[in-house]
Amino acid sequence: MPAATSPDRLVLRRPDDWHVHLRDGDMLAAVARHTAWPFARAITMPNLVPPITTVEAARGYRERILAAVPAGLDFEPLMTAYLTDEIDPEEIARGHAEGVFTACKLYPAGATTNSASGVTDIRRLDRVLERMQSIGMPLLVHGEVVDHDIDIFDREAVFIERILAPTLARFPGLKVVFEHITTCEAVDFVRAADARVAATITAHHLEFNRNALLVGGIRPHHYCLPVAKREHHRQALRAAATSGNPKFFLGTDTAPHGIAEKESACGCAGIFSAPVALESYAKTFEEEGALDRLEGFASEYGPRFYGLPLNTGTVTLQRQSWTVPDTLEAGSVRIRPFHAGGALAWRLQDARASEDTEPR
Ligand code: DOR
Ligand code: ZN
Repeated sequence: MPAATSPDRLVLRRPDDWHVHLRDGDMLAAVARHTAWPFARAITMPNLVPPITTVEAARGYRERILAAVPAGLDFEPLMTAYLTDEIDPEEIARGHAEGVFTACKLYPAGATTNSASGVTDIRRLDRVLERMQSIGMPLLVHGEVVDHDIDIFDREAVFIERILAPTLARFPGLKVVFEHITTCEAVDFVRAADARVAATITAHHLEFNRNALLVGGIRPHHYCLPVAKREHHRQALRAAATSGNPKFFLGTDTAPHGIAEKESACGCAGIFSAPVALESYAKTFEEEGALDRLEGFASEYGPRFYGLPLNTGTVTLQRQSWTVPDTLEAGSVRIRPFHAGGALAWRLQDARASEDTEPR
């Protein structure tokens, strides 16, 4: 289905978000609608406290997500398992066979929010990765090393050398999504890799570089992990996302935290981008003269990589300036969205969900 593009209106096949944090409880209740309105499906991250490591926990979480989605919205959460040093390959395989787990997420222990139970040494996952390789289950990676002697701005590039490239070589059939890439090294690596390797790119890493964190004062609402890098890395990400290369697809990494947790002496990593996600990607694609490639990036390459049907509904973006709200309420806490208080030129109009999906 080609995108019907005019200067003022953009009709896209309904997209999916291949990387979201929906949280739980009041936060989940507040944020679920912002993902479920534009996106038909979303890969939901398992870094809850405690993390999602069993089929039973994933089923329960899926139910809570569905209960938090407003009536009338057609949305399917795709669940992931949180890999730990001790995780049982049989549990993973059973969850996959029963249609509960779509993929597994690798957090190096200590790399990011709620990663304390993550993996301390990739070699401890050998049996799990072998099993995933044999059943065609994708591995989603937070690609940063955690070594104290490695500068935080180099942690992604070092991860490629020390962990990702050797793991791909040891498991030549394993499908891998390199999540939320932030460097030209990652872009080059994914481009050169074979077809079983893909990457998600966030809207915020396309929009700002590390100056947005530090110039004129510390900006905690621009802090996320992996941290934004120098401008030439951002340019490489923009080129990759808008190139039409199907190895690069949409994953927002929307990651809400209460304002008090962000504006703190030790603020949390994460940007709550869901309320502006599609509009923000449209901004980048328009600036790059590539609006005609947004549909592939947002709605086609992800499902093709995961081996899932394309959605048949549509969403419409209208050229209409609007001001992003400063805050949203989530129970007793407030959260601040990406672009809070700013203006965006595109606005999401309508998500017409469809009952069924087209064959691949
Ligand atoms: O910025 C981030 N926030 N990066 C992550 O890897 C985790 C996420 C979160 O859960 O808040
Ligand atoms: Zn994430």
